Amino acid sequence: MSDKGLIRPHGGTLVNLIVKAPRQTELEAAAKKMLRLKLPDREQCDLELMSVGALSPLITFMNEADFHSVCDNIRLANGLVWGAPATCSVDKATAAKLDIGQPVALTDEQDRTLAVLTVQEKYAHDKTKEAEKAYGTTDDAHPGVAVVMSQGDVCLSGPLEVLTPRYEPEFTKYRLTPTQTRAAFTERGWKTVVAFQTRNPIHRAHEYITKCAMEIVDGLLIHPLVGQTQKGDIPADVRMRCYETLIEKYYSSEHTMMSVLPAAMRYAGPREAILHVMMRKNYGVTHFIVGRDHAGVGTYYGTYDAQRIFDQFEPDEIGVTPLKFEHSFWCKKSGAMASNKTTNSAPEERVFLSGTKVREMLTQGKRPPAEFTRPEIADILIAAMRENG
Ligand code: ADX
Repeated sequence: MSDKGLIRPHGGTLVNLIVKAPRQTELEAAAKKMLRLKLPDREQCDLELMSVGALSPLITFMNEADFHSVCDNIRLANGLVWGAPATCSVDKATAAKLDIGQPVALTDEQDRTLAVLTVQEKYAHDKTKEAEKAYGTTDDAHPGVAVVMSQGDVCLSGPLEVLTPRYEPEFTKYRLTPTQTRAAFTERGWKTVVAFQTRNPIHRAHEYITKCAMEIVDGLLIHPLVGQTQKGDIPADVRMRCYETLIEKYYSSEHTMMSVLPAAMRYAGPREAILHVMMRKNYGVTHFIVGRDHAGVGTYYGTYDAQRIFDQFEPDEIGVTPLKFEHSFWCKKSGAMASNKTTNSAPEERVFLSGTKVREMLTQGKRPPAEFTRPEIADILIAAMRENG
């Protein structure tokens, strides 16, 4: 189905890097004799996203000009807004063995070929710069920075041909490509769609902001991130059970759909908010929810930094409208969800629970208050905690 009338992808064209037969067979055979590089989790996620166009206009892992431009200016070298680097790196010894023009096989952990990259550029991976600029810290206690610091010292870039984005993808029913979400919006007749990024179960605050957003658009795309997350985050399969239950019971089926984003969390706060928006633009949405401490972790970012970063760009450079939400909570005084914008209630009249407190309750088999998490969701989380010890 045509997606005419929908928002254009970032940069204008939806990228597709997956090769077709007979090139596929030819490449698969040739890759067996190439130097083989096992891609870490984040790079595998980026490769999958790139291959289906979710990172359009990127057609390969970043070259040196894009890497520095994104770090310094939040823009690709061609001027398009872009949040954070996506690199493929190797150690110095491996880099020394690679010649310009040499094809290398990029593999998963089981040595299956995912793609072939023909080396066009090798450049020094300035990890300190990437950490400082894109993450705002060089502290390797930051989970996203820790990943950068574990990457290789030399980045590779060059033409990329993808055999398959993933051999055993999870959540296949929901793993829609940008082409597929666009077709789904068209089929539903949705002209305006708001995407909701999440790496957590949907609590009442999430439910509140998604429903506020739904009031002004045709449809809601619940778009949980299911790639690599940090230890301690609720696993994606458990979250998916929560989303399905909640959507079935509490959301309008006519105006809600879910698909997954196979991206790794970078926890880069404001810079990641930009990346999240651009990916969702490629999936065809017109609006995007940015709440409190979006994509943040610990105390590295201010509560609304991820909203403020949008102020430095012209709206048409982003293309998608960010819907910015205040920190929301259950207000006992109003008997409803609220935020500083909508209530004057005193702190003791508000239900606030820290992530640590919620985890503690769930581990003990106790449901958090229904004003914080729907009981159906609490029960799924309690059962999962019991199963996983
Ligand atoms: S995130 O890493 O994906 O941002 P999370 O899944 O917790 O984490 O949040 C999903 C979205 O909901 C983000 O836009 C976040 O800013 C927003 N959000 C989370 N909790 C609240 C809250 N209490 N009030 C307002 N927005 C919130």
